[in-house]
Amino acid sequence: PKRVTTRTLQAMRDRGQAITMLTAYDFPTAKLLDEAGIDVLLVGDSLAMVVQGHDTTLPVTMDQMIYHAEMVGRASQRAMVVVDLPFPEGQIEITRSIEASARVLKETRCHAVKLEGGAEQAGRIEAIVTAGVPVMAHVGLRPQNIHVDGGYRLQRDTEKLVSDAKAAEEAGAFAVLIECVPASVATAITAAVKVPTIGIGAGRDVSGQVLVTHDIVGLTSGYTPKFTRQFADLGKGMRDAAKEYLEQVRSGGFPSDQESF
Ligand code: KIV
Ligand code: NA
Repeated sequence: PKRVTTRTLQAMRDRGQAITMLTAYDFPTAKLLDEAGIDVLLVGDSLAMVVQGHDTTLPVTMDQMIYHAEMVGRASQRAMVVVDLPFPEGQIEITRSIEASARVLKETRCHAVKLEGGAEQAGRIEAIVTAGVPVMAHVGLRPQNIHVDGGYRLQRDTEKLVSDAKAAEEAGAFAVLIECVPASVATAITAAVKVPTIGIGAGRDVSGQVLVTHDIVGLTSGYTPKFTRQFADLGKGMRDAAKEYLEQVRSGGFPSDQESF
């Protein structure tokens, strides 16, 4: 299949064709999503929460992001693969952000990075893009900022968010992800920029949608945000399979003669 690139996404946005994006953190999951026809795979720092079991996205390291990006990059035949710069690789000296971004292209088969922030990140975005690494900006709710914000909160400041997105576009970002804003704010942002906008908790009036895969297939337990939707219950499927297996082992039903040598 022909690889999705920054140009493909821009053409989809210009045509009004919805862009689809989901997170992936490992080979088998990335392969399934790629086969399903997903346009963009995100190796999100959300893996700190949904895979590593942390309470926030802050603990995951760059080395761990690279480890997961390698697996996803190896699995993807068609999807463009974007990798999050984890805290604080997108906040510290710009040269270190360039180094971290370059590792994504050199050490994994992934294609771009994402970093949190807008106007205040313009110089960093420009430097990374100049170095040859495409950048997706992430505005609105910024999970890496949780301790400054005092929790995960809906972001409502239309003027600030529009200027964040415009600054990111101006700096060379190929797309802007918008997290957790009123739909009307995402509408205003999408109208203000020419690059694709990808929403999560941002309503319908964006160029595409992204969700955390573990949420949509029922592999996260406990709190799930209002903006997600569970499309399958693989959690139940796995628990049922494990119960059936242990019953069969305990009852002598597994392995059968056919499953033995
Ligand atoms: O890390 C992540 O999964 C993300 C999405 C929630 C957009 O940044
Ligand atoms: Na993220």
